[in-house]
Amino acid sequence: MEKKEDVYILAIESSCDETAAAVVKNGREVLSNIISSQAALHSQYGGVVPEIASRKHIEKIDQVIEAALDTAGKQLEEIDAIGVTYGPGLVGALLVGVAEAKAISFAKQIPLVGVHHIEGHISANYIENKELEPPFLCLVVSGGHTHLVMVEEYGSYQVLGRTRDDAAGEAFDKVARAIGLGYPGGPKIEKHAKEGNPEAILFPKAKIEGAPYDFSFSGIKSAVLNYINGAKMKGETINTADIAASFQRSVVSVLVEHAMLAVDRLGVDKIAIAGGVAANGALREAMQEACDQKGIRFCHPSPILCTDNAAMIGAAAYYDYMRGIRHGWDLNAVPNLKLGER
Ligand code: KG4
Ligand code: ZN
Repeated sequence: MEKKEDVYILAIESSCDETAAAVVKNGREVLSNIISSQAALHSQYGGVVPEIASRKHIEKIDQVIEAALDTAGKQLEEIDAIGVTYGPGLVGALLVGVAEAKAISFAKQIPLVGVHHIEGHISANYIENKELEPPFLCLVVSGGHTHLVMVEEYGSYQVLGRTRDDAAGEAFDKVARAIGLGYPGGPKIEKHAKEGNPEAILFPKAKIEGAPYDFSFSGIKSAVLNYINGAKMKGETINTADIAASFQRSVVSVLVEHAMLAVDRLGVDKIAIAGGVAANGALREAMQEACDQKGIRFCHPSPILCTDNAAMIGAAAYYDYMRGIRHGWDLNAVPNLKLGER
């Protein structure tokens, strides 16, 4: 029998404020994972400024790709395909990665595979859970998305529920800003919450009539803002650690409840989490506990593979590549690309 060749993917990610490149072998082995974060730059504005993000990506992308190839000990000649995020995300930011990937693909005649950013987040789970294979349920919680997804097979997704308003990460970022913690809010809330009492304040948990898997986080964000304003009007001092802990508890319990409802109704035995908010320790603990109670398997990527990175894009690109997916040099950035859409 003919020996199967190893497949090396050079992956590029630039959809938001991280310029990232990675080399991934056979979809699951990360040879390099270089991330240049712009978070410190954007934090002075309280959030990502799209024009600044695009400009920074242009400055950094070549260095990041070179570093990814060097660290992996690979030359472009040894790369089988270029995987690149082409949506969803900030159009100007996405374009930098897409243009770079197309240029390399054209110059070196390497096949090009456009990757959906959320498909990348989900695929981050394959890297450290070598035996994880579809079908499984995945809770995707990032700065721009909150989806409960059934991963039916590689590249085939059924979205069971999504947020009706803010994404979970967006709620973390907005609440962090309201209590003066700055951007990015998620990790700051998590740290601050450790000093607070999660039962101090009861924030609401939204349920949507007739759509048990959908989420809504704008209500809890408004409740936090109302709580702060109310306390200020009464001249009371607010305990920001209690707010952070109580807010986090409320968001985590909604996420876990919805995910477990899907587990029960669909009878799945594996659930994964993905996206920036999946780095949250309280969410991971609560999911682990709920899964242990049900006797089902819980998977999650390491924190560095939860937030935006290119290794996850390499993992997703591998399975697309193996299924014969190739993009032409007319590949464009699609800022509102839907999951499962090509
Ligand atoms: O996946 P990601 O890096 O970018 C998007 O695709 O959106 O997610 C970024 C989001 C931000 O909203 C950030 O505040 C949140 O993930 N985040 C966290 C944590 N780390 C990042 N949220 C809660 N706890 C964390 N530890
Ligand atoms: Zn992301």
